[in-house]
Amino acid sequence: MVTKIAVLVSGGGTNLQAILDAEKSGIITSGKVSLVVSNKEGAYALERAKNHSVETLVLSKAEYPTNADFEKKLIEELERREIGLIVLAGFMKILSADFTSRYPERIINVHPALIPSFCGEGFYGLKVHEAALSYGVKVTGATVHFVNEIPDGGRIIAQKAVYIEDGDTPEILQKRVMEEAEWKILPLAVEKVSKEIAEK
Ligand code: GAR
Repeated sequence: MVTKIAVLVSGGGTNLQAILDAEKSGIITSGKVSLVVSNKEGAYALERAKNHSVETLVLSKAEYPTNADFEKKLIEELERREIGLIVLAGFMKILSADFTSRYPERIINVHPALIPSFCGEGFYGLKVHEAALSYGVKVTGATVHFVNEIPDGGRIIAQKAVYIEDGDTPEILQKRVMEEAEWKILPLAVEKVSKEIAEK
């Protein structure tokens, strides 16, 4: 059996692209991306999904103004398609405890730092790299972890370190962390967890 995967996105979708490429190249064989959900209309990640003939869905703030509305609709759509694994790939919304407790060890997230550093509420996207540079750490990286009720607090699945270099800006560092860590460990983690779910 192949695990049906939904990827939740909000922006550019380079991590989604890494997953889709890994499916194509045979790195991911135990799971299949069946749905891409964006909470933002016009997110470029939606184009990436369409280019790979993956079904897309937009649950915008205008249509689903509260978190509860959003999550109710999301659950409906996930259950209708019998999704087995939910991947947060640049998804910039915190899911409620109600939602996460429904899917124990069935939601994974990629975070652009070495958890427990520079993580939790308020640490997302470029802000994470700004914080790492302003603290002055010499090593950062990325983490893939299960999602529970604590933001960035679930069990760690994979991590990869990335060195900070002289002259790094948040943008330069973000790109290096993506290239050297996120795009590598996320597809591998997706395969590992999809396989475990498929074998259950
Ligand atoms: C990635 O760096 C991802 O790790 C981060 O946002 C970026 C999204 O890029 N996610 C978070 O900060 C979540 N806390 P992408 O849309 O190109 O994959």
